[in-house]
Amino acid sequence: MSITLKMKNIRKQFPGVIALDGVNIELLKGSVLALLGENGAGKSTLMKILAGVCPQDEGVIEIFGKEVKIDNVNVAKTNGISIIFQELSLSDNLTIAENIYANKEPTKYGLIDDKKLNEECKNYLVSLGIEMDPKILVSNLSIAQKQLVEIAKGLVTNPKIIIMDEPTSALSNKETELLFNIINKLKNEGKSIIYISHRMEELFKIADFVTVLRDGKYINTVKISDTSVDELISMMVGRDMLEIYPKRDFNYQDNDVVLELKNLTKKDYYHNISLALKKGEILGMYGLMGSGRTEIVKGIFGILKKDSGEIFIENQKVEINSSKDAINCGIAFVTENRKEEGLVLTSSVAENISSVRIESIINKFGFLSYQKETNLANHYIKKLNIKTPNFEQIVNNLSGGNQQKVVLSKWFEIKPKILILDEPTRGIDVGAKFEIYKFINELSKSGVGIILISSELPEVLNMADKILVINDKKVITKLDADKTNQEEIMTYITNKKEVNL
Ligand SMILES: Nc1ncnc2c1ncn2[C@@H]1O[C@H](COP(=O)(O)OP(=O)(O)OP(=O)(O)O)[C@@H](O)[C@H]1O
Ligand SMILES: [Mg+2]
Repeated sequence: MSITLKMKNIRKQFPGVIALDGVNIELLKGSVLALLGENGAGKSTLMKILAGVCPQDEGVIEIFGKEVKIDNVNVAKTNGISIIFQELSLSDNLTIAENIYANKEPTKYGLIDDKKLNEECKNYLVSLGIEMDPKILVSNLSIAQKQLVEIAKGLVTNPKIIIMDEPTSALSNKETELLFNIINKLKNEGKSIIYISHRMEELFKIADFVTVLRDGKYINTVKISDTSVDELISMMVGRDMLEIYPKRDFNYQDNDVVLELKNLTKKDYYHNISLALKKGEILGMYGLMGSGRTEIVKGIFGILKKDSGEIFIENQKVEINSSKDAINCGIAFVTENRKEEGLVLTSSVAENISSVRIESIINKFGFLSYQKETNLANHYIKKLNIKTPNFEQIVNNLSGGNQQKVVLSKWFEIKPKILILDEPTRGIDVGAKFEIYKFINELSKSGVGIILISSELPEVLNMADKILVINDKKVITKLDADKTNQEEIMTYITNKKEVNL
């Protein structure tokens, strides 16, 4: 097989961080190379260099054996490189077709030919196996649908080298399969793909080779058929990891209900949701993307306000009309969409962590206590191993997974009675996941009631006490996590079997 791309001895430094140092990759024609490494290892930076977003300080890039200087995005494009970003880059106020064909729209008499644009787009999407109406505004799409449009946009220029940075973190199983079909088709056409994901099992389905980075350094490249999950993890973290889920050293037995919902309903969003969350309990919520699980918790948090039904906190009926009301009732909510709802990207790590608990760091004269804010930030930087040169770093400069850790810190710090976690470990590496799971366990041990939503079944099965299975905007059953398994849960979902609770 011929070599499509070589990156040799790449180095990149940011203020206070050496993001890459002596990194090499080799990409064969018609193959998939996975990049693997912990949060902040340098994967996205390496790909941004290749895509011309930020040039390297040192090192050489060769495409089909010829050295190229990729100092801007256009050079990358003319060399057939396309990047599908980790964070979505679509314009919300344009349609699917307008986004995919941005600046390449077919014209008629100098004007954009909308009819032709939509027809072409429709055929193109069908060729990829994506069923969507090109005329829909992107603002009306779910995160998963946006991700699919992003992928379609990245492929429309017929690139030779395609970079996918965590493309599946917002996709459900069905859509992930669709993506894998697209990748196999691209391989057969002789295209080369660089694939980044924290979901180890995906690499074994789709990658041919894996290159591992650690702390900006090149560790090794292995053939996927010659390696194992354990070997990859130990290359990534630099030590053997024996467990993925921490053992719980306690069994919380408190029958005090901290949160109770009675027939919570909002038309078209969630129906007749009843549940009781006990102190110190971890209640898992599992359902496919679009099943309504996020809508239910948004209902509790006052974002998608109920039409009818009742909410009780510690047996007191409460009215929650806004997220502020919810926070005042002792509820914290880590959303699935950190960019839109969780973070102020232009503020520092310290400011973000202290933002919801501002009263705790105001001193007796009413001024913000810099010292307290700093201590708080440093506490979490250490606890969750947030990779940042210091607490003053602007959050936008952190890697994707480290931004997620900042979001978690902020909500952990509010010391809530009830903590809602929606996909808390999305984009987080295995080592950090372990730390976060330990932290969730600690919170539950201290009596916090936790609702854990996840698309990863093993995560809910291993972390939760009870699991609510959500389908079609309803709770279809409640299971004991240690008495059920993946197969049983999937049967409930696919048969749409409903059970009287
Ligand atoms: N613009 C920037 N300014 C300063 N530091 C940066 C910038 N971009 C990245 N970094 C730092 O470079 C390092 C590598 O980040 P990068 O985004 O490449 O990691 P990653 O491997 O993609 O991690 P993740 O899995 O969390 O997405 C991190 O320490 C990050 O904070
Ligand atoms: Mg990244």
